[in-house]
Amino acid sequence: MTSIGIHDLEVATAHHVLDLGLLAESKGIDPAKYRVGLGQDEMSMPAPDEDIVTMGASAAWEILRRHGTDGIRTLLFATESGLDQSKAAGVWVHELLGLPSQVRVVEFKQACYSATAAIQAAMGIVSRFPEERVLIIASDVARYELDSPGEPTQGAGAVAMLIGADPAILEIEPPSGIHTADVDDFWRPNDSSTAVVDGAVSVRAYLDAMTGSWDDLAGRGGPAIGDIDRVVYHQPFTKMARKAQQRLDRHAGGSLGTLGLDSGSVYNRRLGNTYTASLYSSLASLLDHEEEDLTGKRLGLFSYGSGCVSELITGIVRPGYADADRSARVRAALDTRVPLDVPSYRSLHALEHSSMNDLETSHVTRAPFRFSGVRGRARQYERTDGAARLP
Ligand code: CAA
Repeated sequence: MTSIGIHDLEVATAHHVLDLGLLAESKGIDPAKYRVGLGQDEMSMPAPDEDIVTMGASAAWEILRRHGTDGIRTLLFATESGLDQSKAAGVWVHELLGLPSQVRVVEFKQACYSATAAIQAAMGIVSRFPEERVLIIASDVARYELDSPGEPTQGAGAVAMLIGADPAILEIEPPSGIHTADVDDFWRPNDSSTAVVDGAVSVRAYLDAMTGSWDDLAGRGGPAIGDIDRVVYHQPFTKMARKAQQRLDRHAGGSLGTLGLDSGSVYNRRLGNTYTASLYSSLASLLDHEEEDLTGKRLGLFSYGSGCVSELITGIVRPGYADADRSARVRAALDTRVPLDVPSYRSLHALEHSSMNDLETSHVTRAPFRFSGVRGRARQYERTDGAARLP
């Protein structure tokens, strides 16, 4: 059988950053509650001319710059920060990247889970047409109400992935474990720009979904826990991965302990929650920071989308997976974000673009693409000076 999996992946984020120490101080909270209690140091925040499209296009642009567009006939855009009830956000990306018209584009939604559904769909396409490659973009802005418990777990970011045969990074194995249950733990009604969440229920639902996914994987002939070398998790906040690994060890009789947790959360501690992109930012973080050579190692990837749908997949790391350039790029993107003070953060949080009136956004982002405004109720995007021509 053809080996299929992740051929490349790239992380992008937003223009601004808020240090959670400042947020804690402004509320009279011990910063250790955020840094240690939640395991978060910073959160990314989009400028007024950025959104899921601009972050997603930036991540994908880097992938196409390296691999070109040959064989790409599908672009799957996974998000829970949808910008339109009808149009897939990926159609704007398609235009910004100058992709051929023979590329189908569709948006996937199920909270933070949908990028994993996109991978499964992509694997199906590639098994049928092994010469094709599928571009997946997971991009989200995590927004909670100001002064709510979820506030310090906000964030923004995108991961683009190329799925193909004979992949260079991770060969995904066929069995996977699935768990779906109708739970009101976290959702975002159509008339709200922030999520509604029951924090305690959401943490329990996540952990139950994880053990449910494990049981399904085990029942479908998945690997024994002792044959899994590291697990990366969806990380609404990085402490959640610690809770999950502890539960997995207890449930499946494993001894992973804290293995891979620090290396798999370097990016996530600084990005904040990136919803659909969070698990795959963690994968990039692990690949870029784990000291031990991961070649030939089996990774578990646990995806959780509130509401809830979860899936545990496994994959084998391919020789030559390491990409020192990516880690330098991601570090530079994180280090060069423009810091916000708390009052500026709060006013940026309150800014909501209505689609009722035409508007032009101010030029702030240094990314290759920007959201330029609204015309005739339609969102408009453009390339900036930062966008070089694609091959
Ligand atoms: N020093 C160190 N640690 C401290 C501390 C201090 N001074 N003060 C508190 N803490 C610790 C607490 O002991 C606690 O740790 P444990 O969880 O290990 O017990 C931790 O900080 C959090 O403190 P609280 O229990 O007081 O919780 P909170 O009221 O701050 O809320 C939360 C935490 C529920 C996660 C909240 O941030 C929230 O609602 N977040 C959004 C929802 C979410 O992320 N849910 C996760 C599962 S759902 C999912 O995964 C999908 C998704 O992306 C949203």
